[in-house]
Amino acid sequence: GKFTWVEKDTCIACGACGATAPDIYDYDDEGLAEVIYKADGNTGNTEIPEDMFDDLQDAADGCPTDSIKIADVPFNY
Ligand code: F3S
Repeated sequence: GKFTWVEKDTCIACGACGATAPDIYDYDDEGLAEVIYKADGNTGNTEIPEDMFDDLQDAADGCPTDSIKIADVPFNY
């Protein structure tokens, strides 16, 4: 599995990730992205299933500030 987490300190609220992968990313009140998959709460601890890997990678590739992080282990934020 894969895990993902948004580094809000560098997110500029461009809105690309939620458009690309709406089941994984949504935005907080300030427009900053966060991981919402299965109520992850942007902890980066929820395992993303293999059938969503394409969306995951497309979102990470499309982020202009490289704020979308992907790892093989939980982030624990
Ligand atoms: Fe922010 Fe990057 Fe998404 S700038 S809104 S994390 S595409």
